[in-house]
Amino acid sequence: MNIVIVGHVDHGKSTIVGRLLADTGSLPQGKLEQVRQQCENNSKPFEYAFLLDALKDEQAQGITIDSARVFFKTSKRHYIIIDAPGHIEFLKNMVTGAARAEAALLVIDAKEGVQENSCRHGYMLSMLGIKQVAVLVNKMDLVSYEEDVFRQISQQYQEFLEKIGIQATCFIPVSGREGDMISERQENLSWYFGKTVFEILDEFHKKDIDENLPLRMPVQDIYKFTKFQDDRRIISGTISTGTVNVGDEVVFYPSGKKSYVKSIEMFNQPAVPGIGAGYAVGLTLTEQIYVKRGEMLTAFHGHPPEVTSRIKVNLFWMGRAPMELGKTYHLKLGTMKVPVEIEKIEQVLNASNLDSTDTAQKIARHEVAKCILKMPRAIAFDLADRISPTSRFVIVDQNNISGGGIIYEALEDAQSQVRQMVIERNYRWIMSNISREQRFERYGQKAALILITGRRDAPRKEIARALEERLFMQGKLVYFLGIGNVIHGLDADLTNDPDTHPEHFRRLAEVANIMLNMGTILIITAIELQKSDLEIIHTSIDDDQIKTVWVGDEDSSSGMADLHVAEHSPREQVVEKILELIHTNLSS
Ligand code: GTP
Ligand code: MG
Repeated sequence: MNIVIVGHVDHGKSTIVGRLLADTGSLPQGKLEQVRQQCENNSKPFEYAFLLDALKDEQAQGITIDSARVFFKTSKRHYIIIDAPGHIEFLKNMVTGAARAEAALLVIDAKEGVQENSCRHGYMLSMLGIKQVAVLVNKMDLVSYEEDVFRQISQQYQEFLEKIGIQATCFIPVSGREGDMISERQENLSWYFGKTVFEILDEFHKKDIDENLPLRMPVQDIYKFTKFQDDRRIISGTISTGTVNVGDEVVFYPSGKKSYVKSIEMFNQPAVPGIGAGYAVGLTLTEQIYVKRGEMLTAFHGHPPEVTSRIKVNLFWMGRAPMELGKTYHLKLGTMKVPVEIEKIEQVLNASNLDSTDTAQKIARHEVAKCILKMPRAIAFDLADRISPTSRFVIVDQNNISGGGIIYEALEDAQSQVRQMVIERNYRWIMSNISREQRFERYGQKAALILITGRRDAPRKEIARALEERLFMQGKLVYFLGIGNVIHGLDADLTNDPDTHPEHFRRLAEVANIMLNMGTILIITAIELQKSDLEIIHTSIDDDQIKTVWVGDEDSSSGMADLHVAEHSPREQVVEKILELIHTNLSS
């Protein structure tokens, strides 16, 4: 069971953990004496907290400590105690899954009383869904073991916890330094009849076991076999929740692509028939579908994840600079990393006193906010009250993790409808025996979509024809499709009013999708593509295959073009530039 120990600086977290190890006989033989002796030699007072440092490098002894995790066991079970050095590390660990606490020990110094971080940490526990909290009122020796002091702090903190929806498991008066109520009862606290810290650990309940939740595995990487004519791929990742078995029908999101599990490979171990949450695995599938890092593997017969680009979150900000409207950050959830922006701040809360405002324009350090975030493309995730590990995210500012939180609502976005159709299409896609790689090898190219757009008079079609000809002469499988060919054919049933505008683009994208699947380099020309048109195309097609060229000086696609060319530049030069742009697609 994973337990995190939190609290204000210097309130005695490390001392309590050190004491717990010492008093339960969990330390290697002679360690305590050795550390005491070292302190004496250097004439500095002994601290139980030093035991943690002293143990850091001793992996081989029954107990090990890495970074801030302490492993030890009682007769009931094994524990990992996470002595989180700060908020950011704690949040990072909780989100990345490095250490997912199920219960917490929250330490408050009896002499200093409830401090800002006592509250912030409490808030963070509540936000992350850790509802089992034992509050340890430490350093009771400094207040002469007064029951009144304990009662007062307990009551004050209890009131705070109630406001944030946590019912403390218990309050325990302790002295880490003197060893009262850690694992032993002494005369000093004879007025206290409750459990010791050691006893309370075994009382914590194991949460909903992650294995019993629906299957979620964020895709970490895709490895291709390199042997001749072997087109299998291994999809690697760590199972976040649920279990996966050979033969299971699985669906990847946001794409909606579906296949069956053919084998489950494990590192340095024989393949297994099934495996559950917490394990890192490599899966091979019966059909060689094309999926990317960041997608989420789920079971076909299970609760599907949410997929959208707009989310309502509860976010804790820790960056030095405040989080602001109009600025781009990155959101990391599972193995997915996408740009993100605040769309709206609904409420900002001071996590230490719960003062709130709903007119804030930014989120300052240590503040908590309910806000709407938007991303340029959809991600797959879950809601906090359903499957919490895949609802947790961190926000990266430049290269620093500066905040994090949970998603509690999925909101519609402009692409919701189209996306649903695409998921449905991918999910029902009828596979052929020829893989994407085989086609690419045959044609000596990767499929690509080159969108050439610009103002009415711009020479889009001339450029497209020249480009097609050039590629054709090079032996490529290439096709030029003017949007008119679709509008007057496939779309003959659609009127030409603004309402049907998106549908024209959805159909165009569907045609393009089939041609890309064939392995073609497809060149499409259209007048003045708008951002919303491009978004439909990007939602419908694997978007790393798309390149957009804007011809002319003014660009109405709001910067979505990958290349701008001047209207009157020499044709040859323009063709060269486009070829450069798609170079990686050509040399498969
Ligand atoms: P950070 O990791 O820096 O946040 O601190 P911490 O919460 O881990 O506190 P630590 O265990 O390092 O203790 C801080 C100081 O408080 C040390 O000098 C301890 O000796 C002292 N201390 C811890 N517990 C007790 C106690 O029960 N009684 C007394 N008198 N001092 C204590
Ligand atoms: Mg410490």
